[in-house]
Amino acid sequence: ADAVLRRGASSSQFFPRAFSSGSFPERKVTILGAAGGIGQPLSLLMKLNPLVSNLSLYDIAGTPGVAADVSHINTRAEVEGYAGDDQLGKALDGSDVVIIPAGVPRKPGMTRDDLFNINAGIVKSLATAIAKYCPNALVNMISNPVNSTVPIAAEVFKKAGTFDEKRLFGVTTLDVVRAKTFYAAKAKVPVEDVNVSVVGGHAGITILPLFSQATPPSNSLSHEDIKALTKRTQDGGTEVVEAKAGKGSATLSMAYAGAVFADACLKGLNGVSDIVECSFVQSNVTELPFFASKVRLGKNGVEEVLGLGPLSDFEKQGLENLKPELKASIEKGIKFAREN
Ligand code: NAD
Ligand code: LMR
Repeated sequence: ADAVLRRGASSSQFFPRAFSSGSFPERKVTILGAAGGIGQPLSLLMKLNPLVSNLSLYDIAGTPGVAADVSHINTRAEVEGYAGDDQLGKALDGSDVVIIPAGVPRKPGMTRDDLFNINAGIVKSLATAIAKYCPNALVNMISNPVNSTVPIAAEVFKKAGTFDEKRLFGVTTLDVVRAKTFYAAKAKVPVEDVNVSVVGGHAGITILPLFSQATPPSNSLSHEDIKALTKRTQDGGTEVVEAKAGKGSATLSMAYAGAVFADACLKGLNGVSDIVECSFVQSNVTELPFFASKVRLGKNGVEEVLGLGPLSDFEKQGLENLKPELKASIEKGIKFAREN
């Protein structure tokens, strides 16, 4: 999506000849929660992606309208809307990529973990359906708390006998998007040139941006600047929740981030080489069973989980500080899935 989204606004620029539908394989992408705050703009962005041949939009209600609307856009993807439990199987059947932004968002004063009681059940039931109807799909988990919902989905898949650690991803791309934006502004470098990895998890201090490795490097940033950039990245979600003042959390920037990550998954499936994104996956990078770091994507999903690289002392400390919280969130998810 990056390349597509960076193009100009005219439709001819969005879809040059090189992107004509004939050049790419058939790929079905399903969005669960497609009528929601993230789901709607994400449906739009995936309809603009020439790698998508079938776009399946599922929610408990409201998807026929979203699908009718988006389907009028003159791009490759055929759009279907599905609503309600009895249509979930059809929505998922044959999916290559399933993106899950289903569930409740935060209000001011809440942590992501406060969403656990509602979203854990939603994710568990959706994962159960994925195991049944499209066990080989790459699953892009957006629903919070990601630090727990990914372990929940893994447990559901294990129970169903369909678990493949290469195919389950917690979407942490929004942390990377924010880190790039904030770094570019502070370091006064062009934002489109910036690369920053963000590792750990997706909540508060478990979000660990590695600004010491950011490119292009900046020697104008002080330790205080790095501390402030780190804190702003960690609190990026809360910044939006507070600004929206009760009307939800990040939706537009999340839709962009979700589209970037799904596009990377599709490129990997299609055999494009050197596709690397950060994601929260099953991992041996630390002693924790799940961890976000750079991941190389390929025809089967995760091709390689990349290590952390050299960390500054500040980042080493951040890494140690995040482990207890991340461990507890992972264990909470596993326990829920085993007991419910
Ligand atoms: P929203 O309330 O606007 O939309 C959620 C949608 O999910 C609704 O349309 C709802 O009907 C649907 N839904 C509920 N239960 C469902 C089910 N069983 N099956 C299918 N759909 C179902 O919320 P939103 O702003 O779109 O946020 C969705 C989730 O994404 C929240 O949990 C939020 O915290 C999370 N989020 C994650 C990130 C991230 O970086 N990973 C960023 C932003 C938001
Ligand atoms: C975000 O980072 O914006 C999301 O996880 C939503 C939230 O609750 O902050």
